[in-house]
Amino acid sequence: MTYNDIDFDNKTVLVTGGAGFIGSNLAFYFQNNFPECNVVVFDKFRSEETFSNGNLKSFGHFKNLIGFKGEVISGDINCDLGLLKNYKFDYIFHQAAISDTTVGDQALMIQTNVNAFKDLLDIAEQMGANMIYASSAATYGDSEIFSIGHEQPNNVYGFSKLMMDNLAAKYIKKSDISIVGLRYFNVYGKREFFKNKTASMVLQFGQQLLSGSSAKLFEGSDKIRRDFIYIEDVIQANIKACTPQKSGVYNVGTGNARSFQDIVDVLKKELHVDRIDEYIPNPFVGQYQFFTEADISLSREFLDYEPKFSLEEGIKSYIEEIKRIHG
Ligand SMILES: NC(=O)c1ccc[n+]([C@@H]2O[C@H](COP(=O)([O-])OP(=O)(O)OC[C@H]3O[C@@H](n4cnc5c(N)ncnc54)[C@H](O)[C@@H]3O)[C@@H](O)[C@H]2O)c1
Repeated sequence: MTYNDIDFDNKTVLVTGGAGFIGSNLAFYFQNNFPECNVVVFDKFRSEETFSNGNLKSFGHFKNLIGFKGEVISGDINCDLGLLKNYKFDYIFHQAAISDTTVGDQALMIQTNVNAFKDLLDIAEQMGANMIYASSAATYGDSEIFSIGHEQPNNVYGFSKLMMDNLAAKYIKKSDISIVGLRYFNVYGKREFFKNKTASMVLQFGQQLLSGSSAKLFEGSDKIRRDFIYIEDVIQANIKACTPQKSGVYNVGTGNARSFQDIVDVLKKELHVDRIDEYIPNPFVGQYQFFTEADISLSREFLDYEPKFSLEEGIKSYIEEIKRIHG
């Protein structure tokens, strides 16, 4: 499946965070569709180090890249970008980040997500590479409006992504390369398993149901609604972001908010499970988005982005993988 007429064969593509969920899917997109594309994955991979919230400091896992035939570099975007100096990239897909929205280490979050992005923008500029980078719906935080210009981050993760967008805006003004930020909403799909507790609730509820227990939802989950976006549509957005009509920041969602209860109901239907759900108090109140819904009008207009997967279609397409993971 190709999404536009760019021929990536014989192009050199950098995927930072390529051992993670979205990055590894991008790496395989190029390998599968453009066998002559030179794909370079740069990722810190996982060590045993954890944050004070108990989660790993980086989720990259070699198993996400089993079957990958390109080049892999283990490095930290905070200090090892020099390893890239002998390459000449045509496109940079910057996915590496502290992706865990519950991390409280402000210094490291901003260093990793913002400072390193500036270094990568400089590299992109020097090489004449197009930059496509991951922003986030977390930039909207407490906002009730989900279009560019209405940001109100409520955690340092969302703040760091907004600072990336501000930085990108400065470079867009002064630079010749094309720069596109993609504000992903809640992404789910293949190769997210190694995000552990930060994997999507689609996977987590699926695992709960398959292990014979009840789905554990936060109280009021029929009213907690988010824009859940399937990985295939995120890949589509990245590829279309290589030929934007205009550099800038764009939302990547379906445009339709759905509830966490909907996820469980769809999963139960797909898995043929009939079981009473369990409701638990939400420990994240205060730093939690109770409603998100991407305004994708600009993404449609300037990227030609058109989401193809409703929640029902995304889960249907993902369900065999959810079962495979469960074993
Ligand atoms: N998955 C989502 O729902 C979602 C939503 C909004 C934004 N995003 C953003 O999309 C991008 C990809 O997210 P993901 O879901 O694939 O998460 P992920 O954690 O699976 O991928 C991030 C990758 O970056 C690597 N990494 C972390 N710190 C690094 C460092 N210092 N140097 C080099 N590599 C480092 C990790 O090892 C990991 O492989 C991230 O920028 C994330 O913030 C994701």
